[in-house]
Amino acid sequence: MSGVRLEVDTHIITASATNLKNIDKVLNDLGVRNMGYIFSGVAAADSVLTDTEKDLGVALVDIGGGKIDICIFVEGALSYSSSIPIGARHISNDIAVGLRVSLDSAEKVKLYLSNHIQQVEEAIKKKEKNFLNSVKFNIPEKLPDATLREIIDGIIGPRIEEIYTYIKEEIIKSEFEKHIPSGLVITGGGALTIGMVEQGKRIVRLPIRVGLPERASGLVDEIMNPMYASTLGLIYYGNKQMSSENTSNKNFNSILKNFSMNDIISKVKKLFKQFLP
Ligand SMILES: Nc1ncnc2c1ncn2[C@@H]1O[C@H](COP(=O)(O)OP(=O)(O)O)[C@@H](O)[C@H]1O
Ligand SMILES: [Mg+2]
Repeated sequence: MSGVRLEVDTHIITASATNLKNIDKVLNDLGVRNMGYIFSGVAAADSVLTDTEKDLGVALVDIGGGKIDICIFVEGALSYSSSIPIGARHISNDIAVGLRVSLDSAEKVKLYLSNHIQQVEEAIKKKEKNFLNSVKFNIPEKLPDATLREIIDGIIGPRIEEIYTYIKEEIIKSEFEKHIPSGLVITGGGALTIGMVEQGKRIVRLPIRVGLPERASGLVDEIMNPMYASTLGLIYYGNKQMSSENTSNKNFNSILKNFSMNDIISKVKKLFKQFLP
């Protein structure tokens, strides 16, 4: 082929140099050599989106503890990305304030309700008054006389609504609103919050599914959780980079196959124990 002009559309992601230096410092202190950076939203997208979704157009929304990463794919290509400084921890904060309990206890209440959605819905339908009292949240405080509805519609709901208002604003800002028929794929631990999918569908008026890192087949069930989407994405990315840079790293795939979360957790525990008196 011959031509007179060569063009390329690029998408540039920037980050604060101070933040990147901090990441390097942590890794150096652990004796780990950093080989590169990747935006965590892109990493999460890599582990949960299908090629069809990316081709049709989709928005990946990674709802973490303190921030939400958004990546919009149109015609298979990453076309917009951004990060919103609000996350699922803000929902726990609101529960702590609303119920006058510690943050730890609020987190337990949120996780319990989110992990027992069916029971909660049934209790609400049957107007069960004792559901909250009969549940063992395993928290030191006594809960005030709040009803399930008050917690879900009065505390969690408004925060989820706020979260989606910001997400919607970003999608409108991207000008790809009409180009994402696959809708939103939400991931990150926050995606599991009770009401997150249903409320989102109502607010953004697009299909929404929870994205699991499903490419991690063969791995233990514990990491088949949206919470690990970006972490697994980082591992895939590292694997890809390493195998293209250095063929002596072929063993990486077998490490990935034998990858056990328990091992990692116990290693991290051991590491922290070293610092304890
Ligand atoms: N089962 C669950 N139900 C509801 N929220 C959850 C669940 N599991 C984790 N979370 C929430 O997800 C957040 C952590 O998500 P994660 O993706 O690990 O964050 P980050 O990437 O910022 O470290 C926390 O706010 C936590 O409360
Ligand atoms: Mg995350």
